[in-house]
Amino acid sequence: MGNTELKSQKSYSPGLEGVIAGPSQISEIDPRTDHLTYRGYDIHELTKYSVYEEVAYLLLFGTLPKKDEFKKFLNELILNRPIPQPLLEMFKQFPSSSHPMDLLRTGVSMLSVFDPDRTVHTHDANLKKAIRLIAQFPTLVAASFRLTRGEKVISPLSDGTHAENFIYMMKGKRPDAEATRIFDRTLMIYAEHGFNASTFSSRVTASTLSDMHSAITSGIGTLKGSLHGGANEEAMKMILEIGEPSKAKSWIDEALVQKRKIMGFGHREYKKGDPRARLLKPFAESLGKKMGQTKWMEISEVIEKVMLKEKNLYPNVDFPAAVVFYLLGFPTEIYTPIFALARIAGWSSHVIEQLDHNRLIRPECEYTGKRDEPYIPIEQR
Ligand code: COA
Repeated sequence: MGNTELKSQKSYSPGLEGVIAGPSQISEIDPRTDHLTYRGYDIHELTKYSVYEEVAYLLLFGTLPKKDEFKKFLNELILNRPIPQPLLEMFKQFPSSSHPMDLLRTGVSMLSVFDPDRTVHTHDANLKKAIRLIAQFPTLVAASFRLTRGEKVISPLSDGTHAENFIYMMKGKRPDAEATRIFDRTLMIYAEHGFNASTFSSRVTASTLSDMHSAITSGIGTLKGSLHGGANEEAMKMILEIGEPSKAKSWIDEALVQKRKIMGFGHREYKKGDPRARLLKPFAESLGKKMGQTKWMEISEVIEKVMLKEKNLYPNVDFPAAVVFYLLGFPTEIYTPIFALARIAGWSSHVIEQLDHNRLIRPECEYTGKRDEPYIPIEQR
């Protein structure tokens, strides 16, 4: 784990690896069995029988909904899909090259001032904010992407599932049942993952008694990096750059010689493979077969084999997700925002949990800089 002794006799772990930063009842990653559960329910069971909206309810409220509770929740999600007009006007001013993660981060920040409960920070008000954010995220991502690319906004559906509605707002056409189900399962798989970097930064922000939107904005900024959520976009760029299965082996061998990081591989907690990647891979394969585009998974397979043999590293969730998103027809820049529009359920649940038992998160650093420097007046330096 790399605990390092410091002069002060306190220990620290680089990258906080292995450090327990607090309790949580939201999800459990068991690195011994490589299992992931949300509120005690195995992710395999959830992706088999549940839908994203039910998983979001489970994460937020801690239990699976009863029929009437779920009906009410679905209704609230649908009612809250539209975003305020000033946001749409703002996105029209942005350069067409704007990255959708920057648009999402700015959009959520702007949403905060329009939230009807902006001055209330109780548990119940935060639940309402969380539901609104879960509903608004897909609209924000799709509308900001289309507007900055000079296209017309497609208003959210007043029916349809979360997954179906997002694909519709991106493309202007309702997806077929298989595409909807695969996308829905991908959203469930991305919905929550313990104290990962973006969730942790959301909790740090919440712990200062800031507000839900600020905490989520911190999370989005943290997710953007390629060592975290940004990896799915980078993984697909790599697969596209390779282009053909016959070129994959030499490409990856050369990348490893150059000591390049291969995005979509490795994980801080899963050392024997990421269960989410194992769940997603068959979806990428079946979509590829259906569309007559098997080469992306053939390229992936070669990379996977070389990474395991040479580095003992397994693919993480972002590797097969990249191919799923590609085959569903999404532009690469939208992959990390899709991660965010699923993870908002996890982030907001963590913000609420943090505030329910809050203590300021404020670690220490070990000072390793100079000491006893004499001050020299500016004229004499
Ligand atoms: N490609 C090449 N080498 C990798 C690698 C990758 N994707 N992931 C880890 N390694 C190597 C590191 O270079 C390091 O080698 P070294 O000891 O010779 O320096 C070793 O494996 C340990 O990696 P490290 O980065 O210290 O592990 P970590 O636990 O701090 O990081 C990740 C975990 C996820 C940040 C890391 O695996 C990574 O950068 N992966 C690529 C980005 C990615 O896919 N992120 C999404 C995660 S869900």
